[in-house]
Amino acid sequence: MTFFKTSAFILASAAVLTACGGGGGDTPAPTENTVENPTSSENSATETPATPAAVDNSEAFAALPEPYKSADFNRGKRTFKLCQSCHTLNEGGQNLVGPNLYGIFGREIGTVEGFTYSKAVDESDIVWSPEILADWLESPRNFLPGNKMSFAGVRKPEDRTAVIAYIMAETGYSGE
Ligand code: HEC
Repeated sequence: MTFFKTSAFILASAAVLTACGGGGGDTPAPTENTVENPTSSENSATETPATPAAVDNSEAFAALPEPYKSADFNRGKRTFKLCQSCHTLNEGGQNLVGPNLYGIFGREIGTVEGFTYSKAVDESDIVWSPEILADWLESPRNFLPGNKMSFAGVRKPEDRTAVIAYIMAETGYSGE
């Protein structure tokens, strides 16, 4: 039964972005990653803005909405390895077997320049959101029959959430 002043803290930190979404644990114990600053982080005045790619893992998802915020960065990164033979994520990245995925959220399906999509994708007008991407990744074939992404899908829900969070973080997802 160790409650600190949790309720007050939770209220306060709901307004700010919590330093490292602990997902409901009692103590935000920093296990894997070294925390850069040794001083208390309860000081709400400084909010670190979404950091660019390739930074401290524990911060990478901090600006995302739930459930992506609480997803496991390393799981996301690992799951993306399934995609990276066909997709790049960086801005202006090249199209491989599949199109570059930078800026995918909020964009209509099938609109990367210079990439030749299937008829099924061309005729679809869905707009990518994290939730729609989750449906696509669960089973690309069932989601949009006739598309040419030869990929069985990401079976585990936690892998899907994590890889989507990873894509959001790596492609500058800005909320909404
Ligand atoms: C074997 C290659 C391959 C793999 C692996 C693959 N994709 Fe794809 N992906 C494609 C192709 C090809 C398309 C274009 C589909 C079409 O035109 O029908 C596509 C399309 C997409 C699109 C739609 C892009 C747009 O511009 O609208 C998204 C999003 C996507 N893939 C995400 C992923 C993610 C995330 C993974 C990994 C979990 C993944 N893909 C794995 C080949 C692949």
